[in-house]
Amino acid sequence: MALCPMKEILKEAEKGGYGVGAFNVNNMEQLQGIIRAGDEAKSPIILQVSKTALTYTDKELLVAMIQVAAKKHPHLPIAIHLDHGSNLALVKEVIDLGFTSVMIDGSLQEDGKTPRSFDDNARVTKEVADYAHKKGVTVEGELGTLGGIEDGIAASKVILTDPKDAERFVKDTGVDALALAIGTSHGAYKFKATPKLALDIITEVHRRVPDTFLVMHGSSSVPQELIEEVNKYGGELKKAMGVPIDTIKEAIKLGMRKINIDTDGRLAFTGAIRKYFHEHPEVFDQRKYLGEGREAIYKWVKSKMIDFGCAGKA
Ligand code: G3H
Ligand code: 13P
Ligand code: ZN
Repeated sequence: MALCPMKEILKEAEKGGYGVGAFNVNNMEQLQGIIRAGDEAKSPIILQVSKTALTYTDKELLVAMIQVAAKKHPHLPIAIHLDHGSNLALVKEVIDLGFTSVMIDGSLQEDGKTPRSFDDNARVTKEVADYAHKKGVTVEGELGTLGGIEDGIAASKVILTDPKDAERFVKDTGVDALALAIGTSHGAYKFKATPKLALDIITEVHRRVPDTFLVMHGSSSVPQELIEEVNKYGGELKKAMGVPIDTIKEAIKLGMRKINIDTDGRLAFTGAIRKYFHEHPEVFDQRKYLGEGREAIYKWVKSKMIDFGCAGKA
């Protein structure tokens, strides 16, 4: 099957009741680690690329690498997805490059900070959906803003997804997938104390729009062992905390299908490289330490594929 629209992957996940990890890619080592994990775990793969990743690498080069990797694994369904696309111009650009799926994040304005009104979000999202669907490309939208919950109440500025609005948003825009704000946030510092998520939102949105694939952003678990490895070898990460794996499994049971992970990959890669530098101060061959990072990504991603239930599904 190789490269396919993301909805082909998520349709199977919905039928099977499992989640599929969507892993961010910025370079060759990450890509190789993720593909090896998917190949060994026999898992569908969603590779997601942010705007920052497109400018860090060279967009044509990054996409060409992904396309070659997909060609070499024709038995695996693989989607190339734009993570947090901010406007139609960017969406058009990546579709021309060969992306099979795009996210239009209309929850925030172009500054990435100010929330958009429902109507404004629906307008930009519909514009993207109309364009992308004509090209056979899957579309993910987002309603609500990411951020933590304390004592069951969202922090100021955080807008959790209202299930009634979600139903109207899906109808108005025609998106295939919808990112829900349930109390997660991006990065390594998601919670100050015991993690709390509004899991009931998943149940209610899934009931109202059963044909729309639900997406969980900010899903890194930030496990203590990864933090300890970074800190043991000179890093300084303090009080980092993510979403416990049991909570993610519960979210999948309730209907989440695409599980976005970036931070955990960064931690695994960084810890492995720091350790290698510490243990081999004489080495300056970058293949040695980047190879350690690649190995760490592979192991971590493979374990996530098993946790999310998508291992064995490709
Ligand atoms: O949603 C954010 C992702 O982790 C991508 O982050 O823009 O630094 O590549 P980035
Ligand atoms: P994390 O920062 O929790 O890995 O979330 C990544 C993400 O949501 C990318 O869209
Ligand atoms: Zn995200």
